Amino acid sequence: MPSLSNSPLDLFISRAEYYAILGRDKLDSFVREHYIFVAVQLVVLSSFFFWSLQQAYPIEAPHRTADMDVQAKAADLAVKAADATVSAPAGDQKELDPPKDTPFSTEELAKYDGKDENTPIYVAIKGRIYDVSAKRDMYGPGCGYHVFVGKDASRALGKSSLKPEDAVADWSVLNDDEKKVLDDWEKYFQKRYNIVGRVSQ
Ligand code: HEM
Repeated sequence: MPSLSNSPLDLFISRAEYYAILGRDKLDSFVREHYIFVAVQLVVLSSFFFWSLQQAYPIEAPHRTADMDVQAKAADLAVKAADATVSAPAGDQKELDPPKDTPFSTEELAKYDGKDENTPIYVAIKGRIYDVSAKRDMYGPGCGYHVFVGKDASRALGKSSLKPEDAVADWSVLNDDEKKVLDDWEKYFQKRYNIVGRVSQ
């Protein structure tokens, strides 16, 4: 038979249990009755907690490391290399020839369409004719940009279009954005290709 002890410690424990249960029930009913208040308090207290945490251990922007400097320099060099590639004359030429003003009729210009391997390939932009033979792989028959050759293709370049019906000289129909695109292409061709003449009509 278990012995019932009434030692002061046992009395203390049973009292403590009693008050713990009473406290729990009171807290329970308080939370149920004032749940909005409790929720607001929780939000306020947790905000205060995180605010104190931030004060004690501020989060700082990471310091630049040597690695990041190397990465930034590498990115810079890559951009410069890409720019030098597209700004340089196409093919083996180190420097472009002085521009020529030789007049070509549209019929004459049409002969330079890359169909004959021994004839240069010409593209005209805003009346100036560029020799794009160095990029036969792009402008030759069956290649992606063949639509521009043997003619003035200003409108198509401005419209970023590869449609044959757009590959015509009249660029007056372009809107301002398209005119800007055309001007950018013109600058690009001026850096890349020799100017061999102009369209005479
Ligand atoms: C999916 C669409 C296109 C892709 C992925 C693309 C891709 C390229 C690439 C990679 C080059 C550089 C080639 C090199 O220098 O070796 C290039 C050049 C060029 N692209 Fe496109 N292109 C696209 C559409 C167009 C369109 C719609 C036009 C119409 C105007 C266009 C006109 C040109 C021209 C004129 C060049 C310059 C070629 C040269 O260096 O003489 N491209 N394109």
